[in-house]
Amino acid sequence: MGVLTPTYFDKEKGNTMKILIAYAGKTGVTERCAKQLAKECTTATLANLNEKQVSPENFDLIVVGSPVYSHKLEPSVKYFIKDNEKSLQEKQFAVFVTMVEEDTFDKVIAHEIPESLRQRAFAMQQFGGEVNDLTSFGWHDRLVAKAMVKLESKKHPIALRLEALLDFAKILKEKEVKK
Ligand SMILES: Cc1cc2nc3c(=O)[nH]c(=O)nc-3n(C[C@H](O)[C@H](O)[C@H](O)COP(=O)(O)O)c2cc1C
Repeated sequence: MGVLTPTYFDKEKGNTMKILIAYAGKTGVTERCAKQLAKECTTATLANLNEKQVSPENFDLIVVGSPVYSHKLEPSVKYFIKDNEKSLQEKQFAVFVTMVEEDTFDKVIAHEIPESLRQRAFAMQQFGGEVNDLTSFGWHDRLVAKAMVKLESKKHPIALRLEALLDFAKILKEKEVKK
């Protein structure tokens, strides 16, 4: 387990927010979003919470990203929020999720993110989701996922919504240069 230190000084823009994008996932969809968001920022530190421990202490702005599985966030993301709830309350805070059952977003957020952080968040967004690789799941999860995709695809495309990611990135970039 490595401990991350922030990279944050931008020569052209001067003093920018120290941004941490802490995320986790199972099949790479959320990771792709986290990396895309990091690219949109001048400097952001990425941390895959399934691989590394990271403390929010050294950062000004924390973005938490997670997929939704069985109406819940990835456990490592949930623990990161729970373990650092107090510290996160003093930071700029935002959340994104990738998910397929898009109309359950509000319910999932209300259940999974403590109220104090929901109130504090400057952005909470779902980016849609993808179901690509089911090989790492057991037979029951595969069945559930296939049924979910079949049902949801009647309502909306099963895909990442790039425009939602770019809107989120825009808000993030505005925050980045304000200190
Ligand atoms: C077994 C399984 C269960 C899932 N459960 C939900 C769910 O409860 N709600 C939802 O909106 N999406 C659900 N999804 C969709 C995932 O959130 C979506 O595929 C996500 O983009 C995966 O991100 P990841 O690759 O970062 O893990 C599920 C997917 C699978 C395979």
